[in-house]
Amino acid sequence: MKESKKVVTTEGTTQFSAELIAKMEEAKNCFPEGKEKSAILKILHLAQAEFGWLSVHSMDQIAEILRVEPIEVYEVATFYTMFHLEPVGKYVFEVCRTGPCMLVGSDQLIEYIGHKLNIGIGETTKDGLFTLKTAECLGGCGYGPLLQCRHRFHEHLTPEKIDSLIEQYQRGEIKPGAL
Ligand code: FES
Repeated sequence: MKESKKVVTTEGTTQFSAELIAKMEEAKNCFPEGKEKSAILKILHLAQAEFGWLSVHSMDQIAEILRVEPIEVYEVATFYTMFHLEPVGKYVFEVCRTGPCMLVGSDQLIEYIGHKLNIGIGETTKDGLFTLKTAECLGGCGYGPLLQCRHRFHEHLTPEKIDSLIEQYQRGEIKPGAL
């Protein structure tokens, strides 16, 4: 299946609200003076939960809050597959494709989801509902093939389960898991 090239877009105004900044400051203050950078993952998650993705503008604001260089934020955000560096659909299916999941059919599953939604890896459906991504080990190796979506795991997946999952998401029946 074709994989779309990852692009870090410079578009998007994602101004943080006072409420979001307060949450970020709280996360930052969990760490001793001089070690505030340790809050970076939590803060990136907070920004992504707010806007759905991480723009360069968001990452620059995070750098200001943590008093670090923007490159230090970009490095972390671009390393982890769970951070989205361009706008994504409302529901992002991140399918594990590391060895154990591959052995139980993750490749075929990714192919199936792509055909079902008519998108390639890294692409979003025209209605803006679904994005298909792949991920490295999600820590549920005994439950593969599996995917995560909005902090929820869906395990032992089959084409039939995918059909049902897509319908449930379309109907808005699956609530996000805890951040
Ligand atoms: Fe898929 Fe670990 S290999 S969750």
